[in-house]
Amino acid sequence: MARLPQAFIDQVLDRTDIVDVVDRRVKLKKAGKNYSACCPFHQEKTPSFSVNPEKQFYYCFGCGAGGNALGFIMDYERMEFREAIESLAQAAGIELPPEEADAAPQVDHQKPLYEAMEKATRVYESQLRKHPSRGRVVDYLKQRGLSGEIARDFRLGFAPEGWDNLMTTLSSEEEIGQALTAGLLIQNDSGRKYDRFRDRVIFPIVNQRGKVIAMGGRVLGDGKPKYLNSPETPLFSKSHELYGLHHIRKFAKNLSRIVVVEGYMDVIALAQFGIHYAVATLGTSVGKPHLEMLFRRVDHVVFCFDGDEAGRKAAFRGMEAALPMMEDGRQVKFLFLPEGEDPDSVVRNKGSQHLEHLFDNADPLETFLFDQMAQGIDLNTMDGKARLSKLVAPYINLIPDGVFKTLLFKALADRTDMDVDSLRRLREIEKSVSAEYESTPAADPSEGLSESDAPFDYPDGYEAMGGNAHLQGTPLQIEPNRSALSRALGLIVLKPSAASAITDDLLPDQGGTLINLLHEVVRQVRETPELSTAALLGYWMGTDEGELLSEAAAKEVIDDEQHISEHLMAILNKLSRDRHITLLRKRAETLKSVAYTDLSNEQKRELVSLTTEIRKFSGRN
Ligand code: UTP
Ligand code: MN
Repeated sequence: MARLPQAFIDQVLDRTDIVDVVDRRVKLKKAGKNYSACCPFHQEKTPSFSVNPEKQFYYCFGCGAGGNALGFIMDYERMEFREAIESLAQAAGIELPPEEADAAPQVDHQKPLYEAMEKATRVYESQLRKHPSRGRVVDYLKQRGLSGEIARDFRLGFAPEGWDNLMTTLSSEEEIGQALTAGLLIQNDSGRKYDRFRDRVIFPIVNQRGKVIAMGGRVLGDGKPKYLNSPETPLFSKSHELYGLHHIRKFAKNLSRIVVVEGYMDVIALAQFGIHYAVATLGTSVGKPHLEMLFRRVDHVVFCFDGDEAGRKAAFRGMEAALPMMEDGRQVKFLFLPEGEDPDSVVRNKGSQHLEHLFDNADPLETFLFDQMAQGIDLNTMDGKARLSKLVAPYINLIPDGVFKTLLFKALADRTDMDVDSLRRLREIEKSVSAEYESTPAADPSEGLSESDAPFDYPDGYEAMGGNAHLQGTPLQIEPNRSALSRALGLIVLKPSAASAITDDLLPDQGGTLINLLHEVVRQVRETPELSTAALLGYWMGTDEGELLSEAAAKEVIDDEQHISEHLMAILNKLSRDRHITLLRKRAETLKSVAYTDLSNEQKRELVSLTTEIRKFSGRN
């Protein structure tokens, strides 16, 4: 088995979205919380190939192919390991380690930065709970109507006044260096270092995987700037991140649309009112990478912006970025709130039902496009109609060919009395129009990191594997409880950290394949407690064990993180109890094989207590 340099693999996988990787090669369709397609590894007419965005692995219920992004590339492109990791690393912008260094432990440069962010988040969180001047912040948050629960869910914190509150929690030059790189500290020209965030409410910015990658800080009063965000760092590229995606993953049920709002307070306020499908950009307009992340999750996006000039410009830029992605079936809508309102104030004053009703009735893309373009044009004149068609047609031409594009051309034709064919020929986007909306450069279109949110869904008709279910064709006498063991392994793959609670006495004695694998996987998690699903599968990639693991994980029906741990422990406890009963029974059988009268008094007593104990243990099943 090829052992892989774990840190490097982790880093590459961490920055890779399997949905992206697969979708570029095999067109995926959303199927519940997963994606499905006809399997590229065997011939089939109905899709049994499924990609789980949350756990970052794929599995085919038809042929049993399965694994992580790396494995997919290797199998699909018939690439060797090095080539596959190279292509993923390149797509993720990560430099390759030198050839010879393969066997040596790899240095993961991002890990300490993530750790610095996590540690700072905890410091800010605890200052919100304990700092002597926390009262002001708590009052502020209360006055904004935020509950303690919401503050906890979004990990809100407090950076008190002072230049070095955070810095004094760092114990080495190394940590200080990392905090600088992560944007938590600032170094001025004379070399002095100090905290970036001072006297602010802290909003940790969490990526889709739930890791803190940046901070936002809001002044408590009217100071400037109102919001201060982390600068661009190796962890944080604001044009590639959306605030709230991780929350959606955790809380949104039956996600069918995502609303894009302007501020993170809006995201939080909506969550407070039970609307768990909002995201905010982080001080940039909505660009292509943002939309790619959104359309990967839903087909329906609502832009909800201020009705003022700035809000409309932002919406227009969002629309421009969206047009080339408007495949049939996708929908973008626009909602502009009245002057002085934002989603936060609307949901507070009018309630979530009202706001959701506004989302439902938001303007479709074409309405926004036509209205926006028709401003200042008199459509009652021939000249006005000609001008409108010249302005709008090039935008419609950005839409991929399909029904939606045709409908828009028809709608434009209706409004301008022109015929569809001549409209289609108006291709150039007038420079003057673009320039009007071009106040900030568009977000850079390079690859976005991604990850998705949903628990694993099962294809229709898939029968859940129960505790005593069937893993057929396996020699039961060699390894009893195969299905239970396989379930335990599947659960560990889905949530490796759950295995850290497994104590030695819960592990069956080494023996069959599955038990040995269980031992090995538990050892791995003990060594690397933060091991991810993808990394675990990556480690076993290309081996029989790897196949067992991905199959077990794909069949697992429990998707709630907390329940995974509970079920895992329940399965192992039951196995351990069963083993205990088997031992007792064996001993009892031995004693019973002797005539009762020939047993010593001590043996008689033992037999009685064995019987009681067996009854007691079995009764608990
Ligand atoms: P808004 O000024 O609309 O703030 O900024 P808001 O969400 O209504 O905030 P509250 O209700 O006054 O607290 C929207 C977004 O623009 C960015 C932030 O990302 C903010 O969430 N922004 C705003 C900045 O980055 N810096 C600023 O100074 C202001
Ligand atoms: Mn606001």
